[in-house]
Amino acid sequence: MNFEGQHLLAIGDLTKEDLLKVIEVAGEIDKDMEKYKSLLNGKIVSTLFFEPSTRTRMSFQASMERMGGSIIGFSDVSTSSLQKGESLPDTIKIISGYCDVIVMRHPEAGSVAKAAEDSSVPVINAGDGPNEHPTQTILDLYTIMKEKGTLEGLKVGFVGDLRFGRTVHSLAMALTHFNPEFYFISPPSLAMPEKYLQELIKKGIKYRQEEDLLKVSKELDVLYVTRIQKERFVSPEEYAKVKGIYKLDKSLAQHIKEDAKILHPLPRVDEMNPELDELPQSIYFQQAHNGIPVRMALLGLVLGKLK
Ligand code: CP
Repeated sequence: MNFEGQHLLAIGDLTKEDLLKVIEVAGEIDKDMEKYKSLLNGKIVSTLFFEPSTRTRMSFQASMERMGGSIIGFSDVSTSSLQKGESLPDTIKIISGYCDVIVMRHPEAGSVAKAAEDSSVPVINAGDGPNEHPTQTILDLYTIMKEKGTLEGLKVGFVGDLRFGRTVHSLAMALTHFNPEFYFISPPSLAMPEKYLQELIKKGIKYRQEEDLLKVSKELDVLYVTRIQKERFVSPEEYAKVKGIYKLDKSLAQHIKEDAKILHPLPRVDEMNPELDELPQSIYFQQAHNGIPVRMALLGLVLGKLK
């Protein structure tokens, strides 16, 4: 697809070629970021965050800064006129007249796509509730490609909150282009939603569901760990039933392949002991830093300054 002027709302909107294109452009940027320092001079991104964020918001902002662009927006909705009762459609109509691209995170599934209908500029989904987080997925793919040298034919395990984990949903769907084998590791109450499993069946992708990570960990090329997301549960009692169900520490080293890679979209709470950081397989901090070249690539492509 020609990215220029397009919204980026769901990972399913991108073909395999589109994903590889962004990865290729991000790789070029990664080699020499300085070269792109004036690329987006005069361009403005608006970051509208209705949910907390460190990595996504700041890496989009840093990416814009690194390319000479400017940033407007909010991360605290109480400082905007939404607080006075202005509607979201009106807010988007106004803000899209002030900027060249909008990056938006919102707690409701589908809300970013709905906002895009009222925008006169491209809208990038920075996470819509439990639904999708497409730019995280592209940086996950970029990280896997960089560290494993390929995306093809990998055995990928996802552990933790697979029910509400939007990063899991988007990454699993994106990887279907690359002939993967999946291992979904969770308690039944946090299992991968049926709609994604049906999609895998339709595409002939092999998957296994398991509760005990150690039963399958030796098989994995990539282990994608996720946080149990307290904020998505209907009650504290429901959360308490699964809180702390997976707690990985450095003893995991005896149960994974030497060349396996451990990813996590972060933030982490109690599912990964910081001692896990010592393992050579742990690459989640590099993964978070890869958000810069990937989001620089996306902004450059959407704003028509990169091809
Ligand atoms: N991975 C991720 O989306 O992190 P933030 O919530 O900090 O943006």
